[in-house]
Amino acid sequence: MMVDVTTKIIGNGPAAAAEAARCLREGGLVAFPTETVYGLGADATHPEAVARLYRAKGRPSFNPLIAHVPDLAAAERIALFNPLARHLAEAFWPGPLTLVLPKAPGCAVAELATAGLDTVAVRIPAHPLAQAILRALGRPVVAPSANRSGHVSPTTAAHVAGDLSGRIDLIVDGGPVAVGVESTIVGCVREPVLLRPGGLPRATMERLIGRPLARVAATALDTAAERPAAPGMLASHYAPRAAVRLDATAVTPGEALLAFGPAPIAGSERAAIMLNLSERGSLTEAAANLFGHLRALDAARPRAIAVMPVPHDDLGEAINDRLRRAAAPRDTAVSQVTVQDVP
Ligand code: TXA
Ligand code: MG
Repeated sequence: MMVDVTTKIIGNGPAAAAEAARCLREGGLVAFPTETVYGLGADATHPEAVARLYRAKGRPSFNPLIAHVPDLAAAERIALFNPLARHLAEAFWPGPLTLVLPKAPGCAVAELATAGLDTVAVRIPAHPLAQAILRALGRPVVAPSANRSGHVSPTTAAHVAGDLSGRIDLIVDGGPVAVGVESTIVGCVREPVLLRPGGLPRATMERLIGRPLARVAATALDTAAERPAAPGMLASHYAPRAAVRLDATAVTPGEALLAFGPAPIAGSERAAIMLNLSERGSLTEAAANLFGHLRALDAARPRAIAVMPVPHDDLGEAINDRLRRAAAPRDTAVSQVTVQDVP
């Protein structure tokens, strides 16, 4: 296990991208902000760095990673784009969209990072610091969310430090992220399918492609490999310590309240602690607040966290997806899967 590594934290100064790229080039693990959540980066072409990344997160090695690149030319060196994938890429990159595509011949992403699949997940992040790091390195960077496997994703550098201090080399603090939920993942191998709702709303993509996107069930198996189609989407993920109770219409004693909108529910005044995702009912604001509020409520050690209903449209699909996972029974948690020794 990788413990007792000294984790350096640097600000978003003029030399930050160069320092991050140098560390990545040497096989280091670097956490940096993207517009969705903080990512934990490793040089995607460096098998040992990728192996360290799985260990630092405690992530099962059958769960593949997203390769981050700065532009479409770099994306085309690792993945094959059909016309629809290209259409989506041109419309929404850089941005909170990940495409799962067939690997290009000579794809430099390490086998371990794609868990031996013949597809690769690719994303061009919009955050200027992420862009600068990718350009300075000149190689793809695999970056899962920078949290311990099964925990709530980080939206600030402090969240990253809380989960991963002593296990990674560098944290670049670029302030709180803008979007707050992970990228939307679309499989574009054959017909386009929604593998994970996220920061790019489904309706925005459906308007562009002129047809509905089928949602592949989180439990659907990739029959060839007997692996989950989007393995990170297994049951309980994004789990706080406290139990999570959804669609609450009243607060019971000892519960914390995660509110949404202007109207309080019965018993709000006796909540152990209350935070509102968005008092004015904005789903964009709610997404940005979601993971930070879950962490803050959990830190107060309530008996449970009661969550008010959140509408399902727009970013609400991703918010409700993450809340459902936070509330899922813990006995199926990814965090309890035995972490395999990675080569
Ligand atoms: O917003 C994001 O996507 C963030 C930032 C850092 O970019 N990253 C992120 O990575 O959320 P992670 O590792 O937490 O989630 C990646 C998801 C997992 O559910 C994984 O199973 C899925 O992508 N995935 C990766 N490669 C895949 C592939 N070839 N086929 C299907 N799913 C894949
Ligand atoms: Mg994650």
